[in-house]
Amino acid sequence: NWTTGNVIEEQVAAIREQVGTKRAICGLSGGVDSAVAAALVQKAIGSQLTCVYVDHGLMRKGETEQVEKDFVAATGVQLKVVDAQERFLSALAGVSDPEEKRKIIGREFIRVFEQAQAEIVAEAPGDQPVEFLVQGTLYPDVVESGGGTGTANIKSHHNVGGLPEDLEFQLIEPLRKLFKDEVRMVGQELGLPEEIVQRQPFPGPGLGIRIVGEVTKERLDLLREADAIAREELTAAGLDREIWQCPVVLLADVRSVGVQGDGRTYGHPIVLRPVSSEDAMTADWSRLPYDVLARISTRITNEVADVNRVVLDVTSKPPGTIEWE
Ligand code: XMP
Repeated sequence: NWTTGNVIEEQVAAIREQVGTKRAICGLSGGVDSAVAAALVQKAIGSQLTCVYVDHGLMRKGETEQVEKDFVAATGVQLKVVDAQERFLSALAGVSDPEEKRKIIGREFIRVFEQAQAEIVAEAPGDQPVEFLVQGTLYPDVVESGGGTGTANIKSHHNVGGLPEDLEFQLIEPLRKLFKDEVRMVGQELGLPEEIVQRQPFPGPGLGIRIVGEVTKERLDLLREADAIAREELTAAGLDREIWQCPVVLLADVRSVGVQGDGRTYGHPIVLRPVSSEDAMTADWSRLPYDVLARISTRITNEVADVNRVVLDVTSKPPGTIEWE
């Protein structure tokens, strides 16, 4: 029978057995899943684990700083930060297809982990090899990616269906059988702080799958601003716990006519996608108060250049998925 204590004990034993005296790296995304996976593996193998944070340039405002400070402070884990913005942006140049973006991002993550692996070995050459990669894959990620069969049922999550075929790491995925609420309980039991455990989900491919159209630096900067405003207002309104997550999406290939100041504009729409959910397998659109929506809309159109319209997504899942890509 299921308790968080059992899950932790079982996984710690299994991970120790699997890794032995070798070393592992864990990709940290700033999200709940990778944080809990990392904490669990750290409990099992301690300093044989190095966490790797890939700054792919697709993160939200303040996210990198948060990982560098909060997570390290909470766990004392060894952290390696890799600036890979150029690499991801050039790999994504000219690509608009959602599945293609997801596969590229999944592949580039692995290439960065391989590079980090080589660096860790070079820094401490006498030590055991780094053979394992820890991922915070959850049960719904596996199901929706087609169980790792290579064909996505719905979409390829970056850490399942998006992995390259020549993967040299052995995977450690201690959360593979769990749902998000269970992962949060495990995280709490492991002593992670509320700010990490109760964070809203954010996908590994980041803002890369929230730009409908090609991903460019300018578009990312614009979306980052809009997203920061939406998050700020939702937090100020005390709605963080009520909504599961609220993707903010830039329709980069769409333009509409507007009027701002004393002139005509021809800008892009921003979509707000607030949802409530239990496990992300199904979701309903959140009935947010109109005054909060109005504040977000006014601020985004005033403060973000090139955006002249804010629209609300009122679709449940199914038929819509939570993310637009
Ligand atoms: P969808 O869009 O499939 O999203 O309804 C379900 C949940 O999964 C998150 N998501 C991802 N998380 N890697 C992740 O780590 C991914 O590739 C990915 N794609 C979607 C999404 O934010 C939602 O919480």
